[in-house]
Amino acid sequence: MRIDVISAIPAIVSSPLQESILKRAQKKKLVEIFVHDLRDYSAGKYRHVDDRPFGGGAGMVLKPEPLFKCLDELTGQRVYDEIIYLTPQGKKLKQKTANDLSLNRNMLFICGHYKGIDQRVIDSFVTKEISIGDYVLTGGELAALVLIDAIVRLIPGVLGDSESALTDSFQIESGFDAPVYTRPAEFRGMKVPEVLVEGNHKKISEWRAAQGKKKYNRVKRKKLY
Ligand code: 6GU
Repeated sequence: MRIDVISAIPAIVSSPLQESILKRAQKKKLVEIFVHDLRDYSAGKYRHVDDRPFGGGAGMVLKPEPLFKCLDELTGQRVYDEIIYLTPQGKKLKQKTANDLSLNRNMLFICGHYKGIDQRVIDSFVTKEISIGDYVLTGGELAALVLIDAIVRLIPGVLGDSESALTDSFQIESGFDAPVYTRPAEFRGMKVPEVLVEGNHKKISEWRAAQGKKKYNRVKRKKLY
């Protein structure tokens, strides 16, 4: 898989990609991620990438010229399965979205200011608009990272057997993982449930299924969905 990211603040995107599982996935060549600095595509000495909105209003909008230049270049080099604009106005990211996107070969993510990007960029290039939740971030960079993490961990080989994505919360029917514990078996007077310590695998999986369901119902009642 190849992922290209266009951003006016590329350092925000690049830095977390150099850590942990995302770093390992790139090293293993399971994914290639390229972050493009939008300012490299702007004309003029000051490398402006934004401007005031026509018709007035607060905030700045990403100008069409640098985005078109960058998008023309990248789309001239390969066919993208999706060109995704990260915006709070987009369709809300769900596990299903990540599952579907994890099957693609080439994807391009556009990070904008929270006020947005010139509509002509969306009309000309964007195939999907995605939001990561009902709150406003200052830019799409953190959202792009969330999306990248959710997708890349699903690529076969990225996670080891012990980290398998198939048993994740939201992939399993009950909706949530059971509580987990590690050593010590007793800590500050709090004991790990006996069933987990005993090591009867049938009993353990029954207990886990029941616990996961319990947690799912509890959270659903609280209307977190
Ligand atoms: Cl994708 N971008 C911004 N700026 N804010 C968001 C978001 C995206 N998703 C939720 N809030």
